[in-house]
Amino acid sequence: MKLSPQISHPPPPTPHSPNLLIRNLSQIATPLGFVPARGESMRKVAVFDDAVIVIRDRRFAFVGRESDLDPDLRGIIDEDFDARGATAVPGFVDSHTHIPFAGFRETEFNRRLQGETYEKIAASGGGIASSVHATRRASQEELTENILARTRTMARYGTTTAEAKSGYGLSVEGELKQLRAIRGASADSLVRLVPTCLAAHDFPPEGRSSAAARRGYVSMIIGEILPAVADEKLAVFCDAFVERGVFTVEEGDAVLRAGAALGLFPRLHADELSDTDGASLSAALGCASADHLMHVSDAGIAALAASNTVANLLPATSFFLMSDRYAPARKLIDADAIVSLSTDCNPGTSMTESMPMVMQLATLQMKMTVEESLTAATLNGASSLRLAHEIGSIEAGKRADLVLLDAPNYLHLVYHFGVNLVTRVMRDGVWVV
Ligand code: NIG
Ligand code: FE
Repeated sequence: MKLSPQISHPPPPTPHSPNLLIRNLSQIATPLGFVPARGESMRKVAVFDDAVIVIRDRRFAFVGRESDLDPDLRGIIDEDFDARGATAVPGFVDSHTHIPFAGFRETEFNRRLQGETYEKIAASGGGIASSVHATRRASQEELTENILARTRTMARYGTTTAEAKSGYGLSVEGELKQLRAIRGASADSLVRLVPTCLAAHDFPPEGRSSAAARRGYVSMIIGEILPAVADEKLAVFCDAFVERGVFTVEEGDAVLRAGAALGLFPRLHADELSDTDGASLSAALGCASADHLMHVSDAGIAALAASNTVANLLPATSFFLMSDRYAPARKLIDADAIVSLSTDCNPGTSMTESMPMVMQLATLQMKMTVEESLTAATLNGASSLRLAHEIGSIEAGKRADLVLLDAPNYLHLVYHFGVNLVTRVMRDGVWVV
């Protein structure tokens, strides 16, 4: 399916932002480009030692040696900022989260620690259903507060853009409330938010008992929820959870096509707990991303590699589910796919907001290189949100989103694990942390 290629995103309503020279950086490390990096080009990270950054009108204007700085550009600088030997990397792009939720599931987590499986807990009324109950009970304002709290944590760990999915409402009002809560949080959020309607996350408790009830819910998504979401312009993307026991390939296909017809770009939870050939469906539909992929087949890998669909990997989910099955990142990259990384932040399968943690798991468990992880967590994540022309790298023309690390170089992001190296975060040219 063909959809318009780019999304514009308004800058935050900050009154004045001075043109800035950031100097005394030990290193700047960034992928480069306005399109995603695929396969081995993910390893090509540009590294500038002893360089400076100039920010003009909230965008990067110059990256390089201070001696190469054009005198005209120097003339427009309002302020100098001493980075005191920090390392700069692009703001992280967390392109898959479920943050508009209420309630936690630490008791289920504790049950899992005692040997119960995620699927067994879900079958006994826990899992997504328990978050649906808690989220339905919460007001829109409470959900907005929860999103703001989570985005504050995200920002402290270097995230400047995050996707946020609904999917714990599973009714017209429930899904609209979650998406309105995202909209309500957007103006105050430290993190730029990109909303996704995931009404096809599960069948609602009142609509899972019979085949007719299941058909009824799919019809409600297509006939009522997605049109209402599109009408209020509450989401950019439409997502579905195609999984054994959840939505079939045919149902996922119907939901995503209906969303696309309303202008909502498709993305898909694919091959997470079992292989349902979700990867091939994502590629065939031209999805922005195919997410999870722990069980993707070789045919699915080939389909993604031959497409522009981003393979979005979420290793914190494998880690938190205590699974030794991680998505085959090496195979995907070696096959020339576009790979990104995200937290999957949600109360059941990945209770973390930390992109550095995800990068550490990507390298130490999925055998990605640090350079591949950095590209995946920035430029390629931006690409899966169709924002690679605006964010995801430190280079002239892009929005000034960056992270300063208390580290001599970018390798420390993974090497110095389990601690927070982030000292400052800039979004759209404004220090938010
Ligand atoms: O991405 N895959 C489905 N959704 C989530 C889990 C949501 C939940 O357990 O609440 C996931 O893993
Ligand atoms: Fe998810």
